[in-house]
Amino acid sequence: MKRISLTQHLIEEQRLHNTIPAELRLLIEVVSRACKTISHAVGKGALGEVLGTTETENVQGEVQKKLDVISNDILLQANEWGGHLAAMASEEMETIHPIPNRYPKGEYLLLFDPLDGSSNIDVNVSIGTIFSVLKAPEGMSRPTEKDFLQPGTKQVAAGYAVYGPQTVLVITTGNGVQVFTLDREMGSWVMTGRDIQIPEDTKEYAINASNARHWQPPVTRYIDELQAGTSGPRGKDFNMRWIASMVADVHRILNRGGIFMYPADARDPGKPGKLRLMYEANPMSFIVEQAGGAATNGKQRILDIIPQTLHQRVPVFLGSKNEVERVTGYHA
Ligand code: AHG
Ligand code: MN
Ligand code: MN
Repeated sequence: MKRISLTQHLIEEQRLHNTIPAELRLLIEVVSRACKTISHAVGKGALGEVLGTTETENVQGEVQKKLDVISNDILLQANEWGGHLAAMASEEMETIHPIPNRYPKGEYLLLFDPLDGSSNIDVNVSIGTIFSVLKAPEGMSRPTEKDFLQPGTKQVAAGYAVYGPQTVLVITTGNGVQVFTLDREMGSWVMTGRDIQIPEDTKEYAINASNARHWQPPVTRYIDELQAGTSGPRGKDFNMRWIASMVADVHRILNRGGIFMYPADARDPGKPGKLRLMYEANPMSFIVEQAGGAATNGKQRILDIIPQTLHQRVPVFLGSKNEVERVTGYHA
């Protein structure tokens, strides 16, 4: 079998579509190298003394796991010196991180969820990293938070890594979705999936059903109908999966279809959903749409949302197109 490395793919895509200039390629290579480092730390587990929590909370008031902080530091350090970035923003940092003065600056902005699925770290269930790349606005001198508040349609690249039985990297630069698997012996990313397409129909859904009593009527109606199976209006049985790592749930959907939901609910009226627009919903929606799926907040396409703040949360319905359109229709 002819092996295509991540670098070869990025260079060939640039030749074909002119969408990956050298600086963006460097950025993607640096992020994917950082993901290898994170994968290595994750794989050490208790042997690396990386499990457990820190004394700190992040800006969202969530207790940080040691690996949340380690992964964040790995991504910051890897991306500071290359000259490809103007600034970074992370789920784990309150404010943006401009590139320090001692390094040259580039034209890109990088956003990331350094470790997604924190509750799964210590129990050895798949976790991952999610990233999103924007261009800095024309004429920007000193980057501010405002420069990051661009809708998801403006992303020039997005991707995620899953640290599971296999370590995989999934990326898009707007020309379909490609999958790479980490060859652990060689230390290289090898293409194992090209132009992935999510089936439009599915019999599998993912939602944290323990929140059912807090859901809004459209979600309750939709889930009730799925659960009614062959005897209900849908006339077929549905299966349920919930990994509690968005990366792993989305990766399953990319492979065999499905719908993933994290709706807004009545638990905390101040929080419109749990997932974060800039670090989770936007990059995953870009990938899912590029794979022929759909992604909405129940009312509109996620990628069209104009962000108000860096850490804003958003309801998420994404995956197989026909199911996402159905549940979005119930909200109308
Ligand atoms: P993070 O670990 O980055 O905070 O994200 C966790 C998210 C997402 O990955 C997952 O789908 C969801 O939270 C799980 O939520 P529940 O705890 O409600 O299952
Ligand atoms: Mn996350
Ligand atoms: Mn996280």
